[in-house]
Amino acid sequence: MDLKHWKLETDADNLAWLTFDRAGATTNTFSSEVLRELSQVLDHLKQMPPRGLAILSAKDNGFAAGADIQEFTTLASAEEAMAFLVLGNEVFDKVEALAFPTVAMVHGFCMGGGTELALACRYRVMDDGPKTRMGLPEVMLGIVPGWGGAKRMPGLIGPAAALDLMLTGRAVDARKAKNLGLVDAVTPRRHFPNAAKKILLEPPPKHAPGLMAAATDWPGVRNFVASQAQKQVAKRARRDHYPAPYAIIELWRDFGGDVRNVPKDHPASMTSLYNHPTTRNLIRIFTLQDRLKALGKPGTDPSFPPGGKPGSDPGFQHVHVIGAGAMGGDIAAWCALRGITVTLQDLAPERIAPAVKRGAELYKKRLKQKHLVQGAMDRLIPDVAGNGVARADLILEAIVENAEVKRKVFAQVEPRMKPTAILASNTSSIPLQELAGVLARPERLVGIHFFNPVAQMQLVEIVQGPQTSAEVMQAAQAFTRQIDKLPLPCKSAPGFLVNRVLSPYLNEAMLMLDEGLPPETIDAAAKDFGMPMGPIELADMVGLDICWAVGQELAKPGNPIPKQLQANVEAKNLGMKTGKGFYTWVKGKAQKGTTGTGTVDLKALADRLVAPALNESVACLREHIVADADLVDVGMIFGTGFAPHRGGPIATIRARGKEEWLKVLEELKARHGLRFEPDSGWAAL
Ligand code: NAI
Repeated sequence: MDLKHWKLETDADNLAWLTFDRAGATTNTFSSEVLRELSQVLDHLKQMPPRGLAILSAKDNGFAAGADIQEFTTLASAEEAMAFLVLGNEVFDKVEALAFPTVAMVHGFCMGGGTELALACRYRVMDDGPKTRMGLPEVMLGIVPGWGGAKRMPGLIGPAAALDLMLTGRAVDARKAKNLGLVDAVTPRRHFPNAAKKILLEPPPKHAPGLMAAATDWPGVRNFVASQAQKQVAKRARRDHYPAPYAIIELWRDFGGDVRNVPKDHPASMTSLYNHPTTRNLIRIFTLQDRLKALGKPGTDPSFPPGGKPGSDPGFQHVHVIGAGAMGGDIAAWCALRGITVTLQDLAPERIAPAVKRGAELYKKRLKQKHLVQGAMDRLIPDVAGNGVARADLILEAIVENAEVKRKVFAQVEPRMKPTAILASNTSSIPLQELAGVLARPERLVGIHFFNPVAQMQLVEIVQGPQTSAEVMQAAQAFTRQIDKLPLPCKSAPGFLVNRVLSPYLNEAMLMLDEGLPPETIDAAAKDFGMPMGPIELADMVGLDICWAVGQELAKPGNPIPKQLQANVEAKNLGMKTGKGFYTWVKGKAQKGTTGTGTVDLKALADRLVAPALNESVACLREHIVADADLVDVGMIFGTGFAPHRGGPIATIRARGKEEWLKVLEELKARHGLRFEPDSGWAAL
């Protein structure tokens, strides 16, 4: 056989070892060519059966990441998409039908199609490393686990657990996978040859779900499980916004989890999902996320990342954070979680202690195992004297938002930095050029702007001042990837992208409050549009003092100031953190009354909220705050959660049409004033 993507070997015990190594790629994904080749291998093995078959991956990063999304996005029609699905099903059915024992040896990422191949094997063994994860994330792309996952996973671990994984798209580590019965054994990757041999030469009984889990598949119980799952889904997403989770439930309940059984015109069919705008938007966001990841590739200059050697780039090894407050403390803790040595400086030890405490909580939650938690704690080093400055590859400042104080700190720090080190500021509003004046080498200053809460927000704006060098930008982007965040390069202008677009939206919401609309109604309108959270609740969460400061910074002359916001700030009712803002907060939850939406036109309210954000997005595009429209969209989605199913602000404009939105703006301008004046950038859109 002439194989490009697979390697087949047979050993002295007549065991076959099939290694997946997709040609010309660093990650294993399933294209139709890869699937056809696998099919050929399986036909061969059927003809000349070995004693057993182990399937492995040659890629360091994992077993397989799933279907080739690139190929999926270039499919021209729902028919072609269905053909791709049928092909995968036929090939994985062949794996399942093999007469000898089969085992998938899983390390690193095992997602979507990768998991579905593993599920088609009789056994699964999983590496116990921290980067190993298995899951069916299709729902996040607006599709269903269509290569047998929706059939085999419920069969293996019971429908309730399987639906939970399929509907959230959550991936599980080896421990959890073993507990669920998703894998038969857990062992370090270096022991894979022995583990595979053992399982294939002395095959144990095939895993079956326990009685309780199996019972959820009985007729009658099945309907109950499905309706419970549907209720859970309905709490999070509407069917017209997100059809995929509903389709997954129906696929399992009514069609045995097999996409080939679903009639074409059924809302759960591949055709319906393929033609739904949400699916297009979610897949586009997924590919744009890859674009952001690629922006974080280490540059070619050997001194970037600092201390890196060409070819054996160790990345950033030591970060020094100045300011252990809300942001600096959490940024430091996050970097240590991601394996970097961090020294954390503040004015006094008691200012650093709360950050270390929050770090410990984060590590317990994320790392679980004691020795890993201890390791992360050891990497997070309090450093009141600032000794870390001299050793750090990156010095990140997150002190009070005051240019004078920041300049003072920079002047003290710069002479002590390694010549290769980078200086960064987490400032949300001060232009870098205002800070760079005190520096001998202003080209090494960059903005690295995190969002709050640091552990949850994926996006980081990388801000280029007029003097920041291209290499320093690239290094800052690479650093962002190293700590598993998404870098968005931005021009240094007030609010950068995210706060600038968010601000007029929040402002409009707060002006509606002043007009007497209940906060619940305003929030309901935004959620109805597809925002994950309403603007009033969001403002309370961000902190009304911060909203006030950002609003002041970005306010345009003549725009009205939200009066209730001002009153709350003056009364020190700052939102969630003080227990009272626009809402009263109890145990981190806003106490909401009924939405009172009775006669209110939520759609018109949503237009009024969203239109200023769209207008500002157009302005950002015109001013090249980010490079292009795709980056505006992906930035707003990962920076604020802007209605993902709509694909971001610019996609929202395109979906309804530029002319329509301009009409909305003109009408709003006539009613509410000049703040709705369409930006001059609309013409070029
Ligand atoms: P914070 O007030 O919670 O923390 C500031 C910390 O800096 C305090 O612990 C203070 O003791 C320390 N500090 C002040 N002067 C210092 C000095 N000379 N040397 C060492 N430490 C010093 O402030 P927060 O909210 O963490 O903000 C910090 C920076 O991050 C600001 O530039 C802010 O604009 C930016 N930022 C804030 C966000 C937020 O949501 N709070 C979001 C993104 C950026």
